[in-house]
Amino acid sequence: MAGFRSVEPQHIDGDIEKVLLTEDDIQSRLAEMAVEIERDYAGKDVLLVGVLKGAIMVMADLSRHLSRHVEIDWMDISSYGSGTRSSGVVRIIKDLDTDITGRHVLVVEDIIDTGLTLSWLVSNLRSRGPASVEICTMLRKPEAAKTAVDVRYVGFDIPSSFVVGYGLDFAEKYRNLRVVATLAPHMYS
Ligand code: XMP
Ligand code: MG
Repeated sequence: MAGFRSVEPQHIDGDIEKVLLTEDDIQSRLAEMAVEIERDYAGKDVLLVGVLKGAIMVMADLSRHLSRHVEIDWMDISSYGSGTRSSGVVRIIKDLDTDITGRHVLVVEDIIDTGLTLSWLVSNLRSRGPASVEICTMLRKPEAAKTAVDVRYVGFDIPSSFVVGYGLDFAEKYRNLRVVATLAPHMYS
């Protein structure tokens, strides 16, 4: 299958239902987004803030598509919620190491679903007096459109089904896939 470097890795054989985005899809889109970001932030310092753990791949690849200096920092936050739904009530597990006062902050996310987590994060960051806070996400689900969070850079709009790969997990697995895919129904039972 394309994007699995021609052959699906054997350890996930049968787990995947459908590959939504191949490695090529992802990398070409990131290259385009990098051009936009370089243009928009010309002459400004940028701090990329990744949200652990899902954003690790987007951060690694997007930052390397940028032909300019950037700083990178990470936050780990956990959203209290029942089951798979996020509630918007968030706890900081690891805060930034960087003082963002007066800084241009670009939040790098893997996926926005309801947008509740991100909305909390953006107001938290804004309260620290940065010069700007913008959001870049690789994936966006339809429900995100309903929230007030303004997302400056979106890689792909995808259907609302649960996806794995490229940083996204199911029970902490599949983060290291090079593609974004849906899991076969038997994986959930
Ligand atoms: P909200 O709803 O606050 O939540 O935008 C975003 C967070 O929910 C997780 N999420 C997913 N994780 N596959 C995943 O592996 C998915 O399809 C998915 N949809 C949402 C993710 O942690 C994201 O940061
Ligand atoms: Mg997860």
